[in-house]
Amino acid sequence: MPGHEPLTLIEKVRPERMIKRLDQLSQIGQTIRGGVTRLAFTQEDRLARALAIDWLHQAGLEVRTSPIGNIFGRLGSPEPDLPVVMTGSHIDTVIDGGRFDGALGVVAAIEVAHVLKENGVSLSRPLEVACFVMEESSRFSTGYAFGSKVMTGQPIDDETLLAQDRTGQTLAEAIHAMRRRELGMEQALKPGDSIETARTYIRGSRYPPERIQAFIELHVEQGPILHTLGKPIGAVTAIAAPTRLAVILSGQQNHSGTTPMRLRKDALAAAAEAILAVERICRSSEGVVGTVGRAEVAPNVVNVIPGEVRMVIDVRSVSAGAKAGVAEAIRAEIGRIANDREVAYQLDTITNETPQPLSDKIVSLVEKNCQALGIECHRLASGAGHDAAQLAQVVADTGMIFVPSRDGISHDPQEWTDERDILTGAQILLLTLLDLTRQ
Ligand code: HGY
Ligand code: MN
Ligand code: MN
Repeated sequence: MPGHEPLTLIEKVRPERMIKRLDQLSQIGQTIRGGVTRLAFTQEDRLARALAIDWLHQAGLEVRTSPIGNIFGRLGSPEPDLPVVMTGSHIDTVIDGGRFDGALGVVAAIEVAHVLKENGVSLSRPLEVACFVMEESSRFSTGYAFGSKVMTGQPIDDETLLAQDRTGQTLAEAIHAMRRRELGMEQALKPGDSIETARTYIRGSRYPPERIQAFIELHVEQGPILHTLGKPIGAVTAIAAPTRLAVILSGQQNHSGTTPMRLRKDALAAAAEAILAVERICRSSEGVVGTVGRAEVAPNVVNVIPGEVRMVIDVRSVSAGAKAGVAEAIRAEIGRIANDREVAYQLDTITNETPQPLSDKIVSLVEKNCQALGIECHRLASGAGHDAAQLAQVVADTGMIFVPSRDGISHDPQEWTDERDILTGAQILLLTLLDLTRQ
């Protein structure tokens, strides 16, 4: 149909509409440093979700929400029964994070669907925009990519549902609290209700993978590669996955003034040596990164030798073998440190995800579309985890498009992506989705 040629349609993408929506989202949970704290299943999350639902309606899509909270906007087709092409991401954030992580993928997906709808483009198969609940594991230190895991039928154990946030609320209670509000259910929460309800919501939120033809996620790179190379688009070849080790070091709490150094069993000194060991082991292991981003010291007062430290070690790689080797070396080293210092320790693997290769076909489509627009594209792996890593386990044609993060910074208020790159990313997303809906 005239005006529906892909290279004409991409001119209809409206960067100002995306920027305005990204601004609106960034104000929900805005922090004093100009970042965003919009933890999953909180009031901020609920407000942002309501905005996304409103934008999906404005785009003229059929909107539905699965019991667990994944939001879908559907752009129909004369072939309604064909498996859909899906695109989307998440709008929950880390603590004091950036405004683009996840949000860009949702806002751009809505923009693309809006452009197709308002220009009366008839697709050969339905297109669905997805906004997955709880991609970040920041609130409960577990449950990474929870919504997309539930959707793809991955097992969610009770340990995850009973994980507590810093206030002691469990994930199951948080799910119930938010979804009860969204579903307008007024009955009070009885003890024990929440985990059974969460399990029911999970069972009711599976999306049959055979109903999905392809999935593609636009996301900020969150690393330095595209920025350093000066390339506007990344075609993602694989997604690294986390292994997380929860460590408890138990020494002897004691008086900081009266206890001779040679008699101390200082849990924090042991933790410090362990943290440096994580850094040393990962620095000497090609393609593996390791971080201790969270540590709690007890009793955490100036005149008491710390008796206990609880911390979580996050190890990432696109190589499962390299990651396993590093986790083993860290486990052994922590045992040695604890032994030398006569400090007791407990080390549990709380997450052990598999790195995920992505579709070569989609990499080639992204490269082809970049060529059509005369822009440079760079193949790279993702160091960050994503919802696409869950879809890739059940949908062969799963891919990601990256746009640059200025100075490679993310999960920080300074996270930034230029408007020009946001527009280019949305245009490449549109072209690639058009390719996929026609296959
Ligand atoms: O941790 C990650 O890689 C992502 O932000 N969930
Ligand atoms: Mn993130
Ligand atoms: Mn993300």
